[in-house]
Amino acid sequence: MIHLIATGGTIAGEADPESGGARYRAGVRPVGALLAAVPGLDAFDLSAEQVLALDSKDMTPEGWLTILAAVRRALGDPATDGVVILHGTDTLEETAYFLQLTVPGGKPVVLTGAMRPADHPQADGPANLLAAVRLAARPDARDKGVLVVMNAIIHTARHLQKARTSGLDAFESSADWTTARPDGRFADLAADALPRVDILPGYAGAPAGLIDACVAEGARGLVLALTGHGSVPSAWLPALRRAREKGVVIVRASRCAGPVIRNANADDDAEGWLTASSLPPPKARIALMLALASKRPFEAD
Ligand code: SIN
Repeated sequence: MIHLIATGGTIAGEADPESGGARYRAGVRPVGALLAAVPGLDAFDLSAEQVLALDSKDMTPEGWLTILAAVRRALGDPATDGVVILHGTDTLEETAYFLQLTVPGGKPVVLTGAMRPADHPQADGPANLLAAVRLAARPDARDKGVLVVMNAIIHTARHLQKARTSGLDAFESSADWTTARPDGRFADLAADALPRVDILPGYAGAPAGLIDACVAEGARGLVLALTGHGSVPSAWLPALRRAREKGVVIVRASRCAGPVIRNANADDDAEGWLTASSLPPPKARIALMLALASKRPFEAD
């Protein structure tokens, strides 16, 4: 049996009558109606539950924990062969990476979504949903970590990125899923909340006051989404040192592709900073939140 967990998204979107058809609302159509619109699904033994009904821009760490609990329940059922999660595309890569770190290997876990709402004449959701169910039922999708299928392409959660604002080919990844491995290093996570970690963007003239503001609001970690090779603006140094004195963990990441190498162009050892290696800032944030929640060291990969 394949278990579907619906969380909302454009895949469950419908035209917003209040906008005169100009816009749609994500996360409106319930999972039962989505399944009924997919020819070919009757070949599979399915169960389904609606755990959230969100536009994924409104996903939260609490939402990740709700989804994780549903995934754990499903995987713990001996009748379940695999799990499919229906999710909005905007933060799909974040939820997928959170699950990559918290779900152990074994049964396939596959996320999918859609770029067009369910009532669009050429909706992509039904084909994506069918592809995800087929993938979750494949024995060779076991022990590959969390996978994502969009527009007939299979991606790994670790490498997936929504690279374009629109179009069916909005997602990109660099890795070959057939050689992917599960991670699950936080599979024993028992937290019912995750510590606050904020992402601070580096840009010309970025104000250091944002660092103090995040710390004052309770951030326990900061991921710096810096320019170039993770270059820290000189004007940020006093605020970053104040943050470190309060025990806030600082991770240098880059807004560019490619690795941020420790001590390569900053005094990481002297300042007590960590580096994200090639993890993009939103994924470095998730790894740091889980490390802090589990009282374990941050590992970039
Ligand atoms: C969302 O992320 O929920 C809306 C956008 C989408 O699913 O494509």
